[in-house]
Order: sequence, then C-alpha cells, then structure tokens
Amino acid sequence: MKKHLTFTLNGNAVTVEMLPHALLLDVLRETLDLTGTKRGCGEGECGACTVIVNGATVNSCIYPAWKVENCDVLTVEGLGTREEHHPLQQSFLEKGAVQCGFCTPGMLMSSYALLQKNKEPDEKEIKKALAGNLCRCTGYKKIIGAVKDAARMLNMP
Ligand code: FES
Ligand code: FES
Repeated sequence: MKKHLTFTLNGNAVTVEMLPHALLLDVLRETLDLTGTKRGCGEGECGACTVIVNGATVNSCIYPAWKVENCDVLTVEGLGTREEHHPLQQSFLEKGAVQCGFCTPGMLMSSYALLQKNKEPDEKEIKKALAGNLCRCTGYKKIIGAVKDAARMLNMP
C-alpha cells in the first residue's frame, strides 16, 4: 500500500505517494523527475547519489525515503540554475573539475555541506569531506582546487 510523504525539497513543500520501503533516490529521480542526483553503485560506496538532509549529506541510494518526512532536502537542482550558477558550480566549471560529470552532483553537494560548516576549509578538510565521493576521471586535484576557489568567492565581502 502506498503512503504519503511530505517534506521540503529545494525550498518548496512537496507531498508524494511512495511505497513504504522506497529509497530517497528513487523518489527523487522516478517520482519527482529530478535526475540531477545520480545512481552509481547503488550500494552507498561512490557518493554519486549524495543529497543533503537537514544539513547533513546522505547517500540517497540507501536512504529510506520515509526518513525525510518533515525534513529539508537539498539536491543539486536547488544549488543554482543554468543561468545563475552557485559559486561551487562556477568554480567546478572554471577549474576543469567536471569531466564526464557523473560524480559532479554528489561532489557539489558534499562540498556545499562542508562550506556550510567550514567557510575556509584546508586541503585536508576538503579531502575528508569528499572521501565518500569517487571520481574516476579527474584525479581529484581540480575538484579540491574548485572547492577552495568557491570558498574564496563565497567569503568575498
Ligand atoms: S549510488 Fe549511492 S553511493 Fe553510489
Ligand atoms: S568527472 Fe567523471 S567520474 Fe568524476
């Protein structure tokens, strides 16, 4: 039997119908058609499906959707728009931190969660925050550089 799930998604209240054991990634991608969040491993290992629930990152591929009842959920669609990028999106593009782009939404969300808590993270802190996000293309250096640049941008008066 289907259940109703109500939560805040990228700043807007939403209510969806879902099967009791639905996973958050499926609700986002299949029910709400928000396909920015990617399915990589589907086992909580690669971070491609990372979204933010009440300020903390979760792997939505293994996260039961019922847990977001009345929570604030942020996905990559809520970060910026095609016309107006979030500074993180802008610096990822400028630094060449996006290649195939499959890991990028998850990288952005983990980076965003880090910068919410730590406005000037050093390299070690960035690496720690992104430890659960795998990229098979970039070698991570440009991603780390992009996070540092975005932090600088966000800290500008
Ligand atoms: S798809 Fe969720 S961690 Fe890989
Ligand atoms: S850019 Fe291809 S997996 Fe990261």
